[in-house]
Amino acid sequence: MNKMNQHFDFIDGQLCAENLPLSKIAAEVGTPAYIYSAAAMKSQYDSLAGALKQAMPDRDAPLLCYAAKANSNIAILAYLKSLGCGLEIVSEGELVRALEAGIDPKTIVSTGVGKQKSEIAAQLKAGIHQINVESIPELELINQIASELNLKADIVFRWNPNVKGGGHEKITTGRTRDKFGIGEDRIEEAYGLAEQMENITPRGLSMHIGSQVFTVESFKQAFETLPALVQKLRANGHTVERLDIGGGFPIVYKDEKLLDLNAYAQWVADIIAPLDTQIILEPGRYLVGNAGVLLSEVLFVKKTDERDFLVVDAGMNDLIRPAMYEAHHEIEAVQSTNRPWQTYDVVGPVCETGDTFTRGRELPELEQGELIAFKSAGAYGFAMASNYNTRPLPAEVLVNNNTYSIIRQRQSYQDILDQENIPDWIRK
Ligand code: LLP
Repeated sequence: MNKMNQHFDFIDGQLCAENLPLSKIAAEVGTPAYIYSAAAMKSQYDSLAGALKQAMPDRDAPLLCYAAKANSNIAILAYLKSLGCGLEIVSEGELVRALEAGIDPKTIVSTGVGKQKSEIAAQLKAGIHQINVESIPELELINQIASELNLKADIVFRWNPNVKGGGHEKITTGRTRDKFGIGEDRIEEAYGLAEQMENITPRGLSMHIGSQVFTVESFKQAFETLPALVQKLRANGHTVERLDIGGGFPIVYKDEKLLDLNAYAQWVADIIAPLDTQIILEPGRYLVGNAGVLLSEVLFVKKTDERDFLVVDAGMNDLIRPAMYEAHHEIEAVQSTNRPWQTYDVVGPVCETGDTFTRGRELPELEQGELIAFKSAGAYGFAMASNYNTRPLPAEVLVNNNTYSIIRQRQSYQDILDQENIPDWIRK
């Protein structure tokens, strides 16, 4: 079902987040700004948790470790925790956020091919649920650090099943040629080594084949690699008591026909559940993607002989997905009108042609000063924003019914300059 517009819909001709007109937020907070709907996140969480419960009524609910990288604002982390989520983190920074948001370390899993010494130490000291190990050198480093700290590290090995899964080349992670995980040839060796290590407890396997996985069969194909592997490991005396099956569940950006959540849950029930392990998922985009919009103001309508540009105040530094992945985001005029449709290239102010959100998009005729919303911007939107062109990071706002909270102030120029310094030898 296309849930994209459920919580961002028109009321009395005004595009609203839940029951709050976006124009009101823009007037008070300014633009560009990311606006999130709490109800939209809850409805996504309920759908996923509900589908899993329905498919597996008699077992403990899987641990849903929200992938913080999708949107790591501490208010979002705290809200998803209140719904029942744990967290998947990929850096020490995300651990710091998790602890600030009050997430129980026992519900945190850590992934990433390049974990640094200080990051591993911080994770071990915090006592997180598990480190998902991506290589043998990483395993050795974790053992060494755990031994220095006199701790035991709970780890799982990230299995690379050699399955193509992502919605774009740059977000496909489960093939042998991708940098992630450990393949067939080394997984048994890694398990054997881990069991010899004093400060490591191997608990099982993890897997994440990609993001925005809309090739329905990919999940099934990847899941189906697990039973034989688990049986082989167990037959050789290894303990496999946790399976972390990653994230990647897709959302609707345009008119994609997506995998039915119930079918996905049924695959988990049919293929993973019989292996009798704790089940962990790492959903990111699914929980927050359609729960956010990027609100922006039209700066100019610039007409040329060839095309009309809608120059808006959000740029590629605020939302990089179109430039980086040719991603499609629906665009909506915030005030509904019955003006005729026009064809626009929607572009930002940044000094490169890559700062183009879309070409040849049909939109109702718009005027300078009017507002537009980029839909489905809740995941990998703000999280990937930068200060390119010394543009301050946008504000973030969380709507709850007809009220809102600013969950991140717009960055000031002073915030940016405070990080920099001119050495005395240049000043003189
Ligand atoms: N687990 C691991 C190990 C991951 O690497 C990721 C995403 C996830 C879970 C969550 O995946 P999700 O459920 O959100 O698909 N910036 C890109 C997406 C990069 C995804 C990176 N890893 C985009 O804007 O499309």
